[in-house]
Amino acid sequence: ATANIGVIGLAVMGSNLARNLARHGHTVAVFNRTHARTLAHLEAHRAEGAFVGAETVEEFVDSLIRPRRVIIMVQAGPGTDAVIDQLAPLLEEGDIIVDGGNAHFEDTRRREARLREIGLQFVGTGISGGEVGALEGPSIMPGGSAESYAALGPILESIAAQVDGEPCCAHLGPDGAGHFVKMVHNGIEYADMQFIAEAYDVLSAAGLTAAEAAEVFREWNTGELDSFLIEITAEVLDQVDATTGRPLVELIVDAAEQKGTGRWTVQTALELGVPVSTIAESVFARSASGDRTVREASRGVLTGPDRTLPAVDRQQLVDDVRDALWSSKVVAYAQGLEQIRKASDEYHWGVDIATVARLWRGGCIIRARLLKQISEEYAVGRLATLLVAPSIQAGLAERQGAWRRVVAAAATAGVPVPGFSSALAYYDTVRAERLPAALVQGLRDNFGAHTYGRIDREGAFHTLWSADRSEVQL
Ligand code: 6PG
Repeated sequence: ATANIGVIGLAVMGSNLARNLARHGHTVAVFNRTHARTLAHLEAHRAEGAFVGAETVEEFVDSLIRPRRVIIMVQAGPGTDAVIDQLAPLLEEGDIIVDGGNAHFEDTRRREARLREIGLQFVGTGISGGEVGALEGPSIMPGGSAESYAALGPILESIAAQVDGEPCCAHLGPDGAGHFVKMVHNGIEYADMQFIAEAYDVLSAAGLTAAEAAEVFREWNTGELDSFLIEITAEVLDQVDATTGRPLVELIVDAAEQKGTGRWTVQTALELGVPVSTIAESVFARSASGDRTVREASRGVLTGPDRTLPAVDRQQLVDDVRDALWSSKVVAYAQGLEQIRKASDEYHWGVDIATVARLWRGGCIIRARLLKQISEEYAVGRLATLLVAPSIQAGLAERQGAWRRVVAAAATAGVPVPGFSSALAYYDTVRAERLPAALVQGLRDNFGAHTYGRIDREGAFHTLWSADRSEVQL
């Protein structure tokens, strides 16, 4: 045996990850169900490093040095279980199976528990950065036991993105912690993209062409909004269709799709009782965009303003939209990180939030300058919410006027901004002296005797609504 790591599944992500490993001096065993793909991988990339191609799973396992480290890179779902079922009987105590797909963290918990029983280590790992990231340095979010990380971590750290001399890879916690963090990463990714799309929509309503909007995003990318998604937004907006000469973005069908991680983020948040309202709006915005029946029935039937924004100075509007984008982005991070904290408490994972933000500074899709600031704020100590971190709170105080102007102008003009407005509503909710939830409690007590608490006395109370309306203490 010569290989110190192996990769199963050589579609683009798996193949690129194997290449990244080989380029970093690892001897990489590679296996794909269809052997032709293994051969094609070897043929194309042999010169990049040391690969050991295997035709059977047995051969693959035999080529690995113990403890064997196997990264599974197949489509998340039943395919992962099928590979595990093939692999597990051939492995020995202490060997490590890594699942690098976008698995649901509950599946990861189940798989980890099952494999632990037979003495195998299972590491559910988030890997972000798309095809290029897999090859050039992704952000890696491993869960699993500390023991497995000791054997695996150095290898993963060697191929991860590096920021300020630190790898964007660290052990996050046992069993499903890594995949949970990756799931929330994707939820935030949905929100980030929704904000960007809303910003573009408002700029378009103000009369900016796609090329002009691209210029604005390019400019934003030199400042506090500096991030991968803002960078590629300029690229997408600048793209001109070869046949029509029109901006490509105007020719793309306006229905956003999703593979499920954003939906899982929201489903899980509902279970945990964490209000990720802005992330949820971003997931729903995709569903709404794809709801042809409702959109076709409503278009031209439901009346409203024609997207004419109140007259404002163009530069002022651009600056305001930038501030609304930054503020909303902070809210999405606050919600997502809070969800991770809550899950970590619930499952006793001990996830360090500063570390999560640190891993996201490079390699992943949501990498952004802001994440350095966020990780530094969490490193100071436990925060009830990111929003009250000193530099963030000050940033929001400075920008909220602009944020409100954008939401108000968009509402007046009939431009939908569910991301910006839900983020602002969340901000105003958490900072409120008193919420109308008091009335909701009164209503619940009225129709269902659900009881309420009082601000001036301890205990649970109920008003006898259909009798003499006196109050009883329970
Ligand atoms: C990443 C991405 C990646 C992928 C998701 C999102 O971190 O590299 O998040 O995992 O793009 O599958 O896909 P959907 O938008 O289709 O849900």
